[in-house]
Amino acid sequence: MIRFNKVTKRFADGTEALKDVSLTIPTGMLTVIIGPSGCGKTTLMKMINRLEVPTSGDILIDDQSIKNQDEVGLRRSIGYVIQRIGLFPHMTIAKNAALVPTLKGWTAEKTQARVNELMDIVGLDPETYLNRFPLELSGGQQQRVGVVRALAGDPNIVLMDEPFSALDPISREQLQDELRNLQQEIQKTIVFVTHDMDEALKIADHIIVLRDGKVEQVGSSEVLIHQPANEFVRNFIGEERINRKRSFGKWKIGELSPFYTQSNMREQIVSINSSDDVEQAIALLEKPHTDVLAVYTNEEFVGYLDQSSLLKAVIAKEEGASSYD
Ligand SMILES: Nc1ncnc2c1ncn2[C@@H]1O[C@H](COP(=O)(O)OP(=O)(O)OP(=O)(O)O)[C@@H](O)[C@H]1O
Ligand SMILES: [Mg+2]
Repeated sequence: MIRFNKVTKRFADGTEALKDVSLTIPTGMLTVIIGPSGCGKTTLMKMINRLEVPTSGDILIDDQSIKNQDEVGLRRSIGYVIQRIGLFPHMTIAKNAALVPTLKGWTAEKTQARVNELMDIVGLDPETYLNRFPLELSGGQQQRVGVVRALAGDPNIVLMDEPFSALDPISREQLQDELRNLQQEIQKTIVFVTHDMDEALKIADHIIVLRDGKVEQVGSSEVLIHQPANEFVRNFIGEERINRKRSFGKWKIGELSPFYTQSNMREQIVSINSSDDVEQAIALLEKPHTDVLAVYTNEEFVGYLDQSSLLKAVIAKEEGASSYD
């Protein structure tokens, strides 16, 4: 868990980028920081690996203040995709990607295997790209290498500052899906900055809305859509997205491709059929003590659905419908 305790950051010229911010970033989840340009997202992110230090207040990782931690060790344990890519221009893609594993003393074989695996995940053929230099790649390709580099050293925490901003919409959606899959598999603590609300709603377990150096609201996608804390959040999410929840009610569960959740211990499981509609699922999930539904197609169990996976499936279907019109 990463905790900000009354953190203020005032730059030398007097700009207050963060104002008395207290917040918690849960372990093993994908937390999105969202807010308008200049609201302090990058500053907040850089404080986690001490590229910026607070003017007052404290930041703790697993209850240990990072003030007293060795800076170099701290940075090697945290993957970082910076906003403007930041690959080293004189190093090949292979060298760039292998930076942290090399510093950590991994063997060449282990490093290479890991880099190849990640290159495949982000859709860059290792044979084609590893021997090139950053300037021989497009902006979007460089951004993908940035993602590979951040994940290569197997860090527990990964900071990603608008990592997909230079990608075309299709690659961007692919990488969002990959990131979600990766996250479910490896359960890292990922802090992801964006100013794109659709991206946030799609990938986040947890969203922090920032405005002018202050936290406006913290919560899941569902909480933000159903209970925006104030006019600012409401406007930022947009009426259109808030109203969408009315239009998808009649879709059948079976028409979605739900991101089924894990079947951990559940207190009380209610069943629903693929032929039932989304509205029925929402009504059931809004009942107290029902946090998950078991979905059946022709009596055969297909998976569990909760509020979060239902909403993500609905958003994915809407995106699928709208990206080709
Ligand atoms: N080194 C600095 N000196 C003075 N002011 C700074 C410095 N770095 C950032 N700021 C200011 O702090 C505020 C927050 O900047 P920050 O980069 O954190 O915003 P951001 O939310 O990441 O914006 P964007 O979405 O445009 O990337 C801005 O007003 C910015 O001008
Ligand atoms: Mg920024």
